Amino acid sequence: MVEARRSAAYERLYAQLEGLVRGKSPSLVAGMATMAAVLHAKLKHHSWTGFYLVAGDDELHVGPYQGAVACQVLKGRGVCLHAARTGKAVVVPDVAAFPGHIACDSRSRSEIVLPLVKDGRVIAVLDVDSDKLAQFDEDDIPPLERIIGLLADLA
Ligand code: SME
Repeated sequence: MVEARRSAAYERLYAQLEGLVRGKSPSLVAGMATMAAVLHAKLKHHSWTGFYLVAGDDELHVGPYQGAVACQVLKGRGVCLHAARTGKAVVVPDVAAFPGHIACDSRSRSEIVLPLVKDGRVIAVLDVDSDKLAQFDEDDIPPLERIIGLLADLA
């Protein structure tokens, strides 16, 4: 369950990002970069925060992110591709237990991935990693979906 403190943080971050992105970001990439920077700086349980863009049926390419250098291409497997294929958010409390997980950073222990949908089509995913186990659960999904929804008009 998202603790009350995290829930309040999501509210503040939504308000901050609404001011920075809606009607302000000149492009999808600019909006993503701003969002990754704010989320990563303000949510201390994040060890990596960023976007992967859909690049064909079975492939994602890295977009704006904050954190250690990550894989540029994800292909054929992984949490991000699973979320992109199904169009549903994925919570992974222990990355070692997710078949096909791609370890771009060996410190990553838990992860959440949310699809960014435009006109019924997944165009990108937001991927957040933590270097600690079980840092995300189902309660993180609605506030993060609301936040990435700010990008829908730019897509
Ligand atoms: N773990 C992801 C790959 C991206 S990195 O975590 C930044 C996956 O399995 O798709």
